[in-house]
Amino acid sequence: MKNSFKTIKGTKDILPIESQQWRELENNIHNIMKNWGYGEIRTPIFESTGLFERSVGTDSDIVSKQMYTFMDQSKTSLTLRPELTAPVMRAYVQHNMEREGAMTKLYYIDSLFRQERPQAGRLRQFNQFGAEAIGSPNAEQDAEVISLLCNLLDKLNVKNYELVINSIGSASSRKLYRTALINFLSPFKNDLSNISKKRLSENPLRILDTKDEKEISILSSAPDIMDFLNGEDLKHFEDLKKILSQLGVSYKRDKNLVRGLDYYTKTTFEIINNNLGGQNALCGGGRYDKLVEKIGGKSTPAVGFAAGIERILLSIGKENKINHNKPIIYIVCTTNNTRNTVINLADKFRKNGLSTHFDTLRRSVKAQLREANRLFSTHAIFLGDEELPKESANVKDLDSGEQVSILLKDILSHFKPK
Ligand code: HAM
Repeated sequence: MKNSFKTIKGTKDILPIESQQWRELENNIHNIMKNWGYGEIRTPIFESTGLFERSVGTDSDIVSKQMYTFMDQSKTSLTLRPELTAPVMRAYVQHNMEREGAMTKLYYIDSLFRQERPQAGRLRQFNQFGAEAIGSPNAEQDAEVISLLCNLLDKLNVKNYELVINSIGSASSRKLYRTALINFLSPFKNDLSNISKKRLSENPLRILDTKDEKEISILSSAPDIMDFLNGEDLKHFEDLKKILSQLGVSYKRDKNLVRGLDYYTKTTFEIINNNLGGQNALCGGGRYDKLVEKIGGKSTPAVGFAAGIERILLSIGKENKINHNKPIIYIVCTTNNTRNTVINLADKFRKNGLSTHFDTLRRSVKAQLREANRLFSTHAIFLGDEELPKESANVKDLDSGEQVSILLKDILSHFKPK
């Protein structure tokens, strides 16, 4: 029969061969976040559409082109979350978390949805881990978040990444820069793409994000936002750079790094891995001091990041993919007479936390060994007519080929010394 159902474009199944790596990655993230004092938050998959319109911004790519928005049965407009900062801030406000302490540090590992053109490292349902530190306006908090991110990437074995930082200042600094950028770009208007022409009057800073070669070359001599930052914004950025250096975190400044979401103020940053091709941004983040207020809370400064898990896994590469817990034991049943002993032994091993397989298909010894190999088994235990009267089993190390005979009563402690 023809299989007529497949995953939807831009979505993927995570099969057991991969899910183990996902779980290891998630365990590492949970442990590290705990060490850094962040508590896990899980929010619903869908939210009011207005939450994203108000926070991410109606003329961002995410809101204008990529959201999965639908009307439910009661004609309420809902959206599958395309990002998590706004939902986390919605939860912060809704649950009055500011009452619990002056600082709130939250993290998440969850799925998101954006209707983008799928390609390697770009999906329509994808996963992020991220952290949001809510309450401090100071540069040391930005530095803590960035160094948490770099520590995480190091622990996850991500190589060849580069941290890029910038500041887009507060609203007053940006207003001055906006005028300067419009003045600079207006003479080039005819050379700009249609979308950039439109952005020139509406949101000129977004042009800095362009991937168009011609526009990149025009922008190379554009005014630098650093020259427009007010004293406080400039001090914040200088402090951040100093603390990063003090922590041994290397970075590069990119004057065009503005990020495509409307809520950012002051610090913006990304982690890039140039070996990944088109989708080279592994993580993105920044400060968003006005967001809590914008969605109905008290004025509260905050800073955070999110990392794309699929892109992290692509950059970790194949060599780290299989890191099975050891040992993995395959109990080989060589005769019908030992079948019940095999079942009981497997049960005992599993109850004692050992990863154990045995065959329920009653296959030949050769087929069982082939299966043991497919399952990355480290040891095979042979139980047959010869071993049964001696109440022993032959244990073979499948890496070295060494074989020893062990009494059944001692076999658990052979694998799990007390
Ligand atoms: P973002 O830059 O939109 O920021 O996404 C963060 C990361 O999610 C990206 O660097 C990328 O690795 C991954 N990502 C984004 N879209 C896709 C996709 N279609 N397929 C696979 N991976 C993708 C945010 O989401 C902000 N909320 C980050 C933040 C947190 N800012 C402050 N706090």
